[in-house]
Amino acid sequence: MTQEGPNAAQAAYWNGPATRAWAREHERIDARFAPILDLLLARAAPRPGEHVLDIGCGSGTSTIALAERVGLGGRVLGVDIAAESVEVARRRIAAAGLVQAEALLADAAAHPFPPGGFDLLASRFGVMFFEEPVAAFAHLRAALRPGARLVLAAFRAAAENAWTTGAAAAMRDLIPPQPSPGPEEPGQFAFADPARVERILHGAGFAEVALAPEDVPIRLGADAAEATDFAMTLGQVSRALQGAPVEMREAVRHRLLAFYRAMEGPGGVVMPAAIWLVTARG
Ligand SMILES: C[S@@+](CC[C@H](N)C(=O)[O-])C[C@H]1O[C@@H](n2cnc3c(N)ncnc32)[C@H](O)[C@@H]1O
Repeated sequence: MTQEGPNAAQAAYWNGPATRAWAREHERIDARFAPILDLLLARAAPRPGEHVLDIGCGSGTSTIALAERVGLGGRVLGVDIAAESVEVARRRIAAAGLVQAEALLADAAAHPFPPGGFDLLASRFGVMFFEEPVAAFAHLRAALRPGARLVLAAFRAAAENAWTTGAAAAMRDLIPPQPSPGPEEPGQFAFADPARVERILHGAGFAEVALAPEDVPIRLGADAAEATDFAMTLGQVSRALQGAPVEMREAVRHRLLAFYRAMEGPGGVVMPAAIWLVTARG
């Protein structure tokens, strides 16, 4: 997808090799993040007949779950900037026969949504990547009816999310250090600071902004081998290994196995994901 405007670099990133696992590996990702979707749905409480905007919908898992809840009288519009993810979402929506759902390939911060039509804005990990977040959320708010609900899942601080950052830290001597975005830049942990999230949402005109911390156990694998395989596919370590030589990949795999073996328990490799459930009113 070619794109201009402030999110051009993010569009390139989300259509590039570092992130394509989000489309190709969506079953594995969804299995791990299912408890987070459950929390989001419980908080959002979509009702039959409601119109929902699902931002950064990826391969469509949340769009499908929301569409099942709003039923034939409702509508869910999933929006994502990654072409391959939207293709997967469209295929899955069609296969599920959910005529009330649609996946749209667009920059959510710029797409001309019809004004005032949506009852709920939801997102699982899809809103931390706007270059100009206040403008983006103001734009999204204009698509909501007054008083509509906003419910977002976003990661808390990197240090609290050892399920992804711990593995990368344990590899520090093996893989080149990855640049981490500044506190005002888009990225996985861009919503870690609650004051920043409040500032963004208040700045965009949202009311009743609240952040509830949730620590959600994520099953990274049935054993260390499966967790290692997943870390080599998605997340900080996999991104650092883009184009790396085979010897480096093998050394990292070996080290990851040891890292996750230390985390193995009777239920497999389970580590908490530290997230905010962010709620507000449009
Ligand atoms: C971490 S992934 C989450 C995907 C999905 N919500 C899930 O939980 O599986 C973030 C998603 O946000 C999308 N995204 C990033 N910037 C976007 C933008 N400006 N407009 C629409 N989608 C965007 C990416 O393409 C990606 O699919």
